[in-house]
Order: sequence, then C-alpha cells, then structure tokens
Amino acid sequence: MLTRSMPLIFLVNLLVMGCHLVELPKPKPPKPIEITLQSEAPFTVGAAIDPTRLRNDTAYRRVLSKEFDGITAENMLKMNNVHPAQNTYDWSRADYIVQFALDGKKRMHGHTFVWHQAIPGWVNNFVGDSAAWEGLLKDHILKVGGYYQGKVSSWDVVNEAFQSNGSLRNTGEGGSIWRRNLGPDYVARCFQYARQADPKAVLFYNDFGQETSPAKLKAMLDMVTDFKKRNIPIDGIGLQMHINLNTPNEGIANAIRSSAQTGLKVHISELDVAINPGGSTSIEFTDELKERQRQKFFYVVKTYKELVPKAQQHGITTWNVGDADSWLRSYYKRKDWPLPFDDAYQKKPAYYGFIEGLR
Ligand code: XIL
Repeated sequence: MLTRSMPLIFLVNLLVMGCHLVELPKPKPPKPIEITLQSEAPFTVGAAIDPTRLRNDTAYRRVLSKEFDGITAENMLKMNNVHPAQNTYDWSRADYIVQFALDGKKRMHGHTFVWHQAIPGWVNNFVGDSAAWEGLLKDHILKVGGYYQGKVSSWDVVNEAFQSNGSLRNTGEGGSIWRRNLGPDYVARCFQYARQADPKAVLFYNDFGQETSPAKLKAMLDMVTDFKKRNIPIDGIGLQMHINLNTPNEGIANAIRSSAQTGLKVHISELDVAINPGGSTSIEFTDELKERQRQKFFYVVKTYKELVPKAQQHGITTWNVGDADSWLRSYYKRKDWPLPFDDAYQKKPAYYGFIEGLR
C-alpha cells in the first residue's frame, strides 16, 4: 500500500514545489454588488424614453442601461410618429429605441396603438364612412403590432378612453375621434385587432387618474368585467400614476388593489410624483419637498409590491428618466422635479424611497 502510493506523493510534492516557483497573483477582494433599481426589484422597472436623448446624452444612456430593465417609447410608437401618412410608416426612431432594449436585454413595452391625442394630420382630415374608419384603425394596429411582433412584448392597446366622470371620451374638449367615428364598442374591437396583430403580446388598457377619480376607476373595472364576459382579449391594466405630493395614499392603494382584484396584470405605467402641479414660478426644491417625494415613491412602490400578487406584477415604469427630461417641464411649461434622478442623472431621495419600497 505504502510503497505503491509513494510515487504519487512524490509527484504531488513536485507539483507543489513547481507552483511555488510561479508568483501567484494576489486574490482580488470580491467586487461589491452594486444596488440598482433592477437588481432590487422582483419585477421589471422601466422608463419612458426618447431616441434623441438616448443618442446624445451619455449620462441619460448610462443610467438607463444600468438601472432599468424595461423600456417604453415615450412618443415614438404613437400614431403621429409611426404612421405619419396613410400609406407611410416611419419605423426609424421607434426602431432605435427597440434595438436599445433588445441589445440590453430589456423588456420593450409598446405605447400606444390608440389614443385621442397624437393623431396625425391625415387622420384628422380623413373622410369616410364607419367601415372606412374601421379599416383605417384595424390596418394601423395590424401593421404596427405585426411589425414589432416578437420585439415588443406588451402593448397599451387603448390609452385614456374614459373621462374622469366615467363616460367614454366622445365630443368636445378632450373628445375622441375614434369614439366619434367608430361607436361606443371600438375599445373592444381594438383589443381584438391587437390580439390578431401579435397573439403573444400582453395587452393592456392604460389610463390616468384612477387614484383620484372613482368614477373612472369603476368604468375601467366594469369594462374589464364586460370584456371577460364577452371573451374580448385583455391581459392587463395600466395605471399611469401621474401623481403629486398631495395625492391621497388611500386613493393610490384603492386603485392598485381593485385593479389587482380583476386577476389581470397590473402595470404602474407612467409613474412620476410632481412637486409643483400648481405651476408656481418661485418654488424651490427644498429638502422638505425632497423628503416628501421620497416618502411618496416609497409608498407607491411598497403598496404595489404588497397588493399585487407576484404573477400579476407587470412592473413599474417611470415617465422619463430624470428631472431634466421630464415631460412635465416641457408639456406644462413649469418648474418641476418629479423623478428619482435629478438634472444631472444623480440619485435623489426619491430614488432611495423607490429602493426601500422594493425591500
Ligand atoms: C406625453 C409625452 O411625455 C410628451 O412628450 C408629449 O408631448 C405628450 O405626451 N399620458 C400618456 C403619455 O399616456 O403618452 C403622455 O406622454 C403623458 C400622459
């Protein structure tokens, strides 16, 4: 036994000695794992983005790449941008966004096939009977949904169809050209066309203000019940969640809870927490306001995580990335600081509120 194992021991010794001749590199201390929104979240954390910024602003691009694992096109999949003339589709700017998402293995959410805003001129000027209108809308959904099949995995099929009193937008201020030309059941047909365009895509109804408009929340939930009864395909509810520091927490919880009770997926699809909804010109973003914003982000994220069952958590998307690119500034022409990243894309207290809400 002993003698037979001798040569082996000898060999091992030789090897060990040989190793000592080579200077071994010192083991590096393990790299601390960096905490990001996507590393902490059990669901997708997305942001709504713009291709020009993505191309030109390195801080914006860096934060996006690192912190987020979901992407929504802020404007480039809206009808005016993607379908500028009846027989012209312009994929270029949306493609740039979709490619960024694919390259970074981020989930791409489509926003939106049908909205009463972002209507191209040719649609505003379109003349035709209801069959012609139906054909127009159906073609649009089939074409755009079909083009992005396998790349865009979920869609806001219809955006903001209801008014705050719960009735469908129709005529007058904030009315809908779709409802006027297609009749009250157009929303259902949009979902059918969307399913046809991409049978695998997850289909959402998306709207804002469910946390403060009980009538709108009810209208949306009633629509879901009706769709289920009639076998109209719908997979999820998008709560935009454009809120502000004073939006009551009970309203937020109520919107999230009752959406989850439908059994559908729930997406907080456009989150931002406005500081200055009244549009004061003298307001400054004080430490006190930063702290209140941190608490609001914490509340929304924590409530979503607690009240939406895991299988129904589609994720949370912020509307834009940092304060510098917030739509609230450009759209409402006012001062505001509604996002988790500041003007230089550094983390704000709101960011840490988001992170704490995930834990
Ligand atoms: C906004 C964009 O952020 C702006 O750039 C654009 O000028 C108008 O639309 N609800 C929605 C989004 O569903 O599409 C809106 O996006 C913000 C409100």
